[in-house]
Amino acid sequence: MSDPLVDSFGRVHNYVRLSITDRCNLGCQYCRPGNRAAYTSQTDQLNFDEMVAIVNVLAEMGVTKVRITGGEPLLRPRLEELVAKLGALSGIRRIGLTTNGMLLASKARALRRAGLTDVNISLDSLLPERYAKITRGGDLGRVLDAIEACFEAGFETLKLNVVLMQGVNDDEIESFLRLTLDYPLQIRFIEYMPVGNHTEGWKAKYMPLEGILAQCAKREWNARLVEPADSLANQSFCGAADDAGPAKYYRISGAAGEFGLINPVSDHFCMGCNRLRITANGYIKPCLYWNDEWDLKPFIGNDEMLRKVFRQSLEAKPQRHEMIVQPSHKPSQHVMRRQMSQIGG
Ligand code: 5AD
Repeated sequence: MSDPLVDSFGRVHNYVRLSITDRCNLGCQYCRPGNRAAYTSQTDQLNFDEMVAIVNVLAEMGVTKVRITGGEPLLRPRLEELVAKLGALSGIRRIGLTTNGMLLASKARALRRAGLTDVNISLDSLLPERYAKITRGGDLGRVLDAIEACFEAGFETLKLNVVLMQGVNDDEIESFLRLTLDYPLQIRFIEYMPVGNHTEGWKAKYMPLEGILAQCAKREWNARLVEPADSLANQSFCGAADDAGPAKYYRISGAAGEFGLINPVSDHFCMGCNRLRITANGYIKPCLYWNDEWDLKPFIGNDEMLRKVFRQSLEAKPQRHEMIVQPSHKPSQHVMRRQMSQIGG
């Protein structure tokens, strides 16, 4: 194995998020604000073999986990072939997918068979009309079918990501928590981040997550913090622990599932950051928040040069993002070039 991927703050990187398209079949307000960003042309998009070549070098440098993101990754045909190719790389032990679920129901089984281990579905409302509005056209029924298909396919973990927005879906916290009572899944509440949308709109909808534990108390649900090693995220059948990641998980007494709180804004977790991001057009981004990125395309096929660029990007990785807002909830003045749908979360 080559030297591990360590940045100038000593953080070891063993996890890569691979955005395979910036196209999406939905237009979630918080992810594609204004629906404005132009798509990468098909010819600038990496093909599967190029992606695998990049991840292969990363795996030799200690990356063990890949998450396939978008846009909406299921818009790329034959996704299961990419999963199988990534799974065949020595060192890669977990392959996750983050999706809106609209196209997942019919694909879940094939993806599982190809070696996909973990699925995260973005789901911000359990009310059909509201879901359609937040996503600009999504069909809740299809997402619920996808969730069922995932249970049938038997993934290692199934997580639902809920971006909590004041006045939009904060009245559904209890409904989401109730899902954990019956189903062995993880509901993850995520603070709304000002990524590519430094607008007044963000400020009005941003809310910290502390009210969620208060809601449990109100219902007299005893919610206990779950140790990372005991969390559902680590009940792995493939012998590889999931990266505990930035979420703190809780379990309501007697519940089948868990809920997680992810506070990127109010309580950044940059010191534990172990991730690199590759964009659909082949750039490496060491930090979600900052604009710095390095083009990998010219070097695909030249592993030594790829390693050099990975190291360059890690050397430049900043200590932390600056979405910070306390106490006035003002986003920083930094303007992000990419919106979330062009990074992949
Ligand atoms: N703030 C917080 N989460 C976001 N996501 C997309 N945009 C934002 C944002 N502005 C979430 C998606 C997806 C995850 C990868 O990132 O809901 O589940």
